[in-house]
Amino acid sequence: MTSWDLRFYFFLSTLLHSTIGKKVRAVNFSGDRYLENIKYLELQPQFLAPLENHTVTQGRDVFFTCVVNHLQSYKVAWIKSDSRAILAMHTHMVTPNPRLSVTHNGHNTWKLHVVNVQPDDSGTYMCQVNTEPMRSQIGHMKVVIPPDIIDVEDSSNRLTSIEGGSVRLRCRASGSPKPEITWRREDGRSIIIRSENERALVIRTYKNENLYLTGILRQEMGSYLCIASNGIPPTVSKRYYINVLFKPTIIIKNQIVFARINHNVSLECYIESSPKSFTVWYTENGQKIGFDEKYIISETAVDDYTFQINLTIRGVRPSDFNIYTCLTENPFGKTNAVIKLRG
Ligand SMILES: *[C@@H]1O[C@H](CO)[C@@H](O)[C@H](O)[C@H]1NC(C)=O
Ligand SMILES: *[C@@H]1O[C@H](CO)[C@@H](O)[C@H](O)[C@H]1NC(C)=O
Ligand SMILES: *[C@@H]1O[C@H](CO)[C@@H](O)[C@H](O)[C@H]1NC(C)=O
Ligand SMILES: *[C@@H]1O[C@H](CO)[C@@H](O)[C@H](O)[C@H]1NC(C)=O
Repeated sequence: MTSWDLRFYFFLSTLLHSTIGKKVRAVNFSGDRYLENIKYLELQPQFLAPLENHTVTQGRDVFFTCVVNHLQSYKVAWIKSDSRAILAMHTHMVTPNPRLSVTHNGHNTWKLHVVNVQPDDSGTYMCQVNTEPMRSQIGHMKVVIPPDIIDVEDSSNRLTSIEGGSVRLRCRASGSPKPEITWRREDGRSIIIRSENERALVIRTYKNENLYLTGILRQEMGSYLCIASNGIPPTVSKRYYINVLFKPTIIIKNQIVFARINHNVSLECYIESSPKSFTVWYTENGQKIGFDEKYIISETAVDDYTFQINLTIRGVRPSDFNIYTCLTENPFGKTNAVIKLRG
């Protein structure tokens, strides 16, 4: 190579580097020292970054970004490749879908915008350049939907069973991916799943669309939550109330109560009843005790089905040392218990 050739080479390589993206001249150095062998070399369109993958919540907006260098007079098209539908050519929209649009930054960046994303927008999107053969790249869109509890017709959120009976709760949810249903009790107590031949399952949470409670006991009365989740916030829940009906029972903690003359004393009767029972106190001779300056009857609810009913006797006298009966009744039956007051 002569010194002239070298100078010419440097001139050309400078030209080449300063004109990337345009038509440039290349030279065959092994040939004539003149320009007969200069050829046109085209730099082909080239993608600078892969198309993104998107996971989008329904209703949100999203865009794909396609960056192409050396586009020259070629055109960028957007295609929904699973349906082979051409969405846009250059910035001209082909699809009638008004939620799609294309923007171009005037240089090398093209964006396909999708607003208010819907489930059928899921799929594969292609950014294509009409070279021969064509060049393209793809990106995926997955549309996700937060869970929503579907109200099943004929399903009330208040269920009733007699004690020992059964209750079936059903909870369905929509969403994408398909939500998982979990049951738990609002007060954090255990759920008891009984089956005929196996030991009862005592659990805090139960994953199933259906919650079937058999041989139900009064302790299982209360609020149950159906919680639907699929990893897409917010998680939703629905509350069901299970009412268990039974004949009242009485628990007496102290069957004999001691009192001092002129002091006040309370006789306590714990009643479990559902529905709530009606309670009356009687003296030994069968006389019903009412409110007066001598007696106070007070009541507090301990839980959904337990009530504490007190008979307070004021200013105890020797004639009050007696037997007192607490009698309670609801539509399922009646029961009584006695407390002895002694000095
Ligand atoms: C370069 O030029 C020589 C001589 O003219 C020729 O034989 C050769 O094929 C050329 N090479 C190219 C790549 O054009
Ligand atoms: C998009 O997802 C496809 C398939 O899961 C994967 O091959 C590709 O690398 C992902 N693209 C990007 C930019 O992460
Ligand atoms: C008994 O109860 C009454 C009213 O509830 C109260 O005024 C009185 O002080 C009490 N007596 C005693 C000895 O505690
Ligand atoms: C009943 O009596 C007990 C003992 O005196 C008392 O601790 C409790 O608070 C009373 N309950 C009601 C509802 O008055």
